[in-house]
This record gives sequence, C-alpha cells and structure tokens, in this order.
Amino acid sequence: MKNPKPKNSNDEFHPFKYPFSTKTKLNRDFKAREGDFLDVLLTRRSSQKLGYIALEGIAELLYFTNKIHSISIDDSRFLISKRTVPSAGGRHPVDILVSMPSESARFLQYYNPIDHSLSELSISKDKQKSFFMEVNENLPIADCCLIWFSIQTKKTQSKYENAESLYWRDAGALIYCIQIVSTYLGFKSCPLGGLAIETFNSLFKTNNLISGGGILIGT
Ligand SMILES: Cc1cc2nc3c(=O)[nH]c(=O)nc-3n(C[C@H](O)[C@H](O)[C@H](O)COP(=O)(O)O)c2cc1C
Repeated sequence: MKNPKPKNSNDEFHPFKYPFSTKTKLNRDFKAREGDFLDVLLTRRSSQKLGYIALEGIAELLYFTNKIHSISIDDSRFLISKRTVPSAGGRHPVDILVSMPSESARFLQYYNPIDHSLSELSISKDKQKSFFMEVNENLPIADCCLIWFSIQTKKTQSKYENAESLYWRDAGALIYCIQIVSTYLGFKSCPLGGLAIETFNSLFKTNNLISGGGILIGT
C-alpha cells in the first residue's frame, strides 16, 4: 500500500446521491446515564450471541457515534465535519447503512448524520435479499441490527494521493467507536470481516462506492 499525501489542490467532488424513499426522524431525547469510562473500555468484547434490538437503542448509538457536531467548508468548498469519531482530513467517507430487525423482509436505510434520520433506500427487494444472504454467510444476522459501511472513496481521494489506507483506517475507527459506545449503552456487538462485495456492488449503479464491511448490534 502506498503512502498517502495531500494533493497540491483538491479535486472537485460530487457525492453519490443514494436513492431514498421514506424518511424517519430519530429520537434525540436520551435518558441520563452514568458509567465509568474505564469500565466501558475494559469490558468491551465482541459477541456472536446477539438478540433483538429496538430502533430506540440504535438511534442512541448512531447519535453518539456518527451524528455531526459541527461543519466547516474548506478552500475547495468541501464540507468538513466533526463527529465523535475521527476521519482523515475530516472527510468522513464512510456512510452508514442500517437494517433493523423486521417481521417482514429486511431492508436497508441510509443514516443521515446531519439531521439524525434514517431514509429507506429505493433498491429492489431481490437485490437486498441477496445482499443479506451474503452477509449471513459471515455470521447470521438473525434479529439484530446490521450496520453496514458504504465508502465514498472519492471523498478522500479528492484531497489525498494514495488515499486507500486512509478510508480503511476511518472504517476501523468507526468500528471501534460503534463497539465502545455499544458497550456503554449495554448492547452486544460483533464486527464482520466479510465485505459481501458482489451483492453490495449490485445494490447501487455507481463506481463511486465500495463496501466497507459492517457490524452487528444486538442485546
Ligand atoms: C475488522 C474485524 C473483523 C472481524 N470479523 C469478525 C467476523 O467476521 N466474525 C466474528 O465472529 N468476529 C469477527 N471479529 C471479532 C473478532 O474476532 C474479535 O474482535 C476478536 O476475537 C477479539 O475479541 P474481542 O473483540 O472480544 O476483544 C472481527 C473483528 C474485527 C476488528
């Protein structure tokens, strides 16, 4: 892998626009919690035995791991954001897709870190079913929440030469942030090593996204 380096001038970047339908605003009114940081740090573990989790819990998890705190615009008119999780150049190329347990067929939603909402993605049910089947080969999703990373590689590439390691390290930072906050909130979690590349690539008609893997969250 090559050494990343900032470019002399940034390339223009146009974000991939996900195809949306219904939007759900998420709760932001969370109960006060107590907890010692070192207890959380020392008790974080991955677990393969995960049970049902409700949207209320995932709303809190997303709020504390990915919600944007502040934004600024850089010289190339790119939107830089600050969140609890770090990202190379503040570019945050890793978008979060969420699939909640469902009594009928599972589906994917896009997490909007600006207004803290989930929007259902307009993708054929068959394509989504194939994607969930491929993810299941790694670890059964059962009735947990699946959080999946969709990486807009050009976000980081527009500022850096040899950006590959940067967005993969961003994905690693996000996994850890999600695990540590899950532990704090009393949830179990398990990162997934598989990338479900083939079925992920068929979800969107673009070359601007790559699959970044995911993490299961449950109780
Ligand atoms: C990038 C990454 C991928 C992982 N993939 C899987 C996986 O596919 N299946 C699984 O059961 N655990 C997976 N894990 C969990 C590891 O096996 C686990 O972190 C390791 O056993 C150490 O245990 P701990 O997380 O409880 O400290 C993954 C962890 C990471 C960081």
